[in-house]
Amino acid sequence: MQYDTIILGAGAAGMMCATQCGGKTLVLDHAKAPGEKIRISGGGRCNFTNMYAGPENFLSQNPHFCKSALSRYTQWDFIDLVARNGIAYHEKTLGQLFCDDSARDIIGMLRTEMDRTGAELRLNTQIVSVSHDGTGFGVETETHGQRATLRCQNLVLATGGKSIPKMGATGLAYDIARQFGLSVTETRPALVPFTFSDNPFKALSGTALPVRAEAGSTRFDEAMLFTHRGLSGPAMLQISSFWREGDDITINLLPEHDPFETLRARRQSDGRRNLSTILAQMLPAKLADHLSSDWRLSGNIGDQSDASLRALSERLTHWTLRPTGTEGYRTAEVTLGGIDTDHLSSRTMEAKTVPGLYVIGEAVDVTGWLGGFNFQWAWSSGWAAGQAI
Ligand code: FDA
Repeated sequence: MQYDTIILGAGAAGMMCATQCGGKTLVLDHAKAPGEKIRISGGGRCNFTNMYAGPENFLSQNPHFCKSALSRYTQWDFIDLVARNGIAYHEKTLGQLFCDDSARDIIGMLRTEMDRTGAELRLNTQIVSVSHDGTGFGVETETHGQRATLRCQNLVLATGGKSIPKMGATGLAYDIARQFGLSVTETRPALVPFTFSDNPFKALSGTALPVRAEAGSTRFDEAMLFTHRGLSGPAMLQISSFWREGDDITINLLPEHDPFETLRARRQSDGRRNLSTILAQMLPAKLADHLSSDWRLSGNIGDQSDASLRALSERLTHWTLRPTGTEGYRTAEVTLGGIDTDHLSSRTMEAKTVPGLYVIGEAVDVTGWLGGFNFQWAWSSGWAAGQAI
């Protein structure tokens, strides 16, 4: 069977691309349903973009690569599409837009748009092999035990990254890219919780608080959550993308206050109170308990010198921890790294050395921060390739 375009992967990027391609288009996926990650994203409401999305919200070996696609298909273009399809949405925080009702609305919208362009979707389909004979691509598939060889002029790799293998994530895009001579940068789990050996925070599981987490020159003011495995919450997921094994992470537990000033004021007003009692008034009680015992805080606040209050304040604003690792691809929201952008046109996503081969979405070495940026990259890169095709 001959197609103009075959798109491997019916995720966010693949479906968006299919809504833009001209000609006879087929989207293949081994899953039972399209857009499974869209369905579970944002707690079932899909944080589909971010009002403040810009190139600075993405990590890549080439930070300029994402600029063209992001500027040609912006968050406002996607918001317009969502609004035209009658999907109600709201800003949750920090420019993050979520569906009012269900993430399924976004999948339904993409399916409707695909129907409009006549793109065909084939699910439950394994990609057995991909080849090129000099005139076009051959894609060997297996659907419900039936083998088929499909041919196309344009092949789009949109099978995403390696995060959450249980949901069907595979390294297929990387394998095909390598087969055609494109290199793949180091890949690692990102937007992922930190783990600690013998998790010292087990008793704090469920405690959350707003923090400022710092990684290199990047800082995130968001919530942190203690879990039975370690540390999670948006602040930790964000800095996980910047963290490497052996690195410390630094957390300001009181980003909205000057703890030294607070402690001095309490020394004045509550001099007879125990330091740990004062701490429990500044932080969630369980965390205050943990820190008081870990830091061996004792005595009344009234007996503390300026120097000791300053030292305590420093500890509270620069709580330094060394994670053992992360929860890995099992729970990572995205894969950092991917197909090297050096091989791709930033305007069309086409491989420079393999005409007709395109790579879009998470498979590319472009990784967004938490907050709707990864979907925006999927929409923008999918749109750019679809327009070029
Ligand atoms: P995506 O993973 O969406 O699609 C790839 C498709 O390829 C899948 O349908 C898969 O079945 C198919 N496939 C893979 N291997 C295959 C093979 N060998 N053969 C055939 N088919 C194959 N981002 C965001 O911006 N806002 C959010 O709210 C969230 N929330 C979120 C929650 C959770 C739990 C996760 C895991 C991730 C998020 N993300 C997110 C990230 C976001 O889901 C992700 O960046 C995009 O889905 C990437 O889109 P792609 O189309 O590139 O890959």
